[in-house]
Amino acid sequence: MPASPIAPDWLSFPKDVNTLNPALWASTVSRAGRGVLTVDGVSVTELAEQFGTPLYVVSENDFRERARTFRNAFDDAFRDLCGGVDIYYAGKSFLCSEVAHWVSEEGLRLDTSSGGELAVAQRAGLKGRQLALHGNNKSDAEINRALDLEVGRIVVDSLDELNRVGALAQARGTTANVMLRLTPGVHAHTHEFIATAHEDQKFGLSLAPASSGERSPAAEAVAVALDHPCIRLLGVHCHIGSQIFEPAGFELAARRLLEFLAGVRDRHGVELAELDLGGGYGIAYTEADTPRAAADIAKAMADVVRSACAEHGLRVPRISIEPGRAIVGPTTFTLYTAGTTKTVQVDADGASHPRRYVSVDGGMSDNARPVLYDADYSAALASRTSAEEPVLSRVVGKHCESGDIVVRSVYLPADTAGGDLLAVPGTGAYCWSLSSNYNYLTRPPVVAVKDGTARVIVRGETEEDLLSRDVPRQETDDRATLEAGA
Ligand code: LLP
Repeated sequence: MPASPIAPDWLSFPKDVNTLNPALWASTVSRAGRGVLTVDGVSVTELAEQFGTPLYVVSENDFRERARTFRNAFDDAFRDLCGGVDIYYAGKSFLCSEVAHWVSEEGLRLDTSSGGELAVAQRAGLKGRQLALHGNNKSDAEINRALDLEVGRIVVDSLDELNRVGALAQARGTTANVMLRLTPGVHAHTHEFIATAHEDQKFGLSLAPASSGERSPAAEAVAVALDHPCIRLLGVHCHIGSQIFEPAGFELAARRLLEFLAGVRDRHGVELAELDLGGGYGIAYTEADTPRAAADIAKAMADVVRSACAEHGLRVPRISIEPGRAIVGPTTFTLYTAGTTKTVQVDADGASHPRRYVSVDGGMSDNARPVLYDADYSAALASRTSAEEPVLSRVVGKHCESGDIVVRSVYLPADTAGGDLLAVPGTGAYCWSLSSNYNYLTRPPVVAVKDGTARVIVRGETEEDLLSRDVPRQETDDRATLEAGA
């Protein structure tokens, strides 16, 4: 059976459609007796029975393992340069209080980007140096919350914000620990919406002056911060984008920031102590993706830091990074139940070719990434294996949009049918966190599996949850009456 002519070039025709590609799945996922997918000893049929579908299933051991892998890889690469690396897990990728506990238990810190994320961190008991606060438009309330928690660093995004942080700290008689987010002008090769360090976008302070002879916004901010009595300027930060495979962009950004730090030293006589190189490490969503191992990237970055510091005669600053996706992405799969299926004929090369549509009980409300970023995913028949031939398939959701696609192209067994469980790997990052109630669907629960036991770490929404914010007619009438009488 040849590959379908309407399949993308990168998708190979499977030798065995039941085989799981280990690059896409948590290390704890395998097929057990009769081919049922299991995660750390718990079968998906049990999970579906107990918790329903759709369901996000995260392998706790796999999460902890990936967190450790990052920590060890970067510590090993940088140990002789700056004693090691501080790893801030990027909470925006996926956060709940249980995950915040895993992060701190594995010796990582937590990068938050809103008051809400800080609230989750607070619930898990994180505070002080364990926390960083990001955001390009932080409110005073968010900054005050960070000051209440004595966060280790507020990553300041603009001159305006720097002044506000300074004023808020001054008003409380404290000092704010600040990193400055700089845009080193590196255009990461990733989707436009997730590339963040080129000039023409909203984040950070530019290294480039607005006109020749002027100070760059970055240099201006350093001068203001060093001068401010209530700001402790720790260092500088950049984040060039997300889902990046090649170290070249990270290396260039590091080089530019170190050059900038040398300029700060020359102008102000101060060697700033810290350099954060952000997150963005890519993962495999399909067989087409070939991310580098953390150890390779860490080594490439350490080489650049070593040589740039030597070139500028700089003491090596303490390095930190902020991976999100690369830690949590592969730890999770989304479990769906298949519903209706149909086959359409698509014309290509002067002939007509079948494409199978398999509808599942979720969709763009639990995974917005295909719609937002044209992201590709993979899928596997999870409740059983099949001896039927592989058929080019498209896994689609149940929302009222034709763009509601979960997996654009995947070979699934020809007998995949309503009632089967399907699992989509690599959904740990930016799926739950970008989820919505579109079409009044309830957000699915998140279940963590570890050593043969599954437990809910984020409760699924119920219809009551959905209706709880809707104001029923009776109450609006009462309010109208009250207002009229007032
Ligand atoms: N640090 C900063 C300042 C960030 O803005 C981000 C991600 C990270 C770290 C973590 O990046 P990661 O290692 O997870 O790639 N929703 C998009 C991704 C948006 C990334 C936002 N910032 C997606 O689903 O692809």
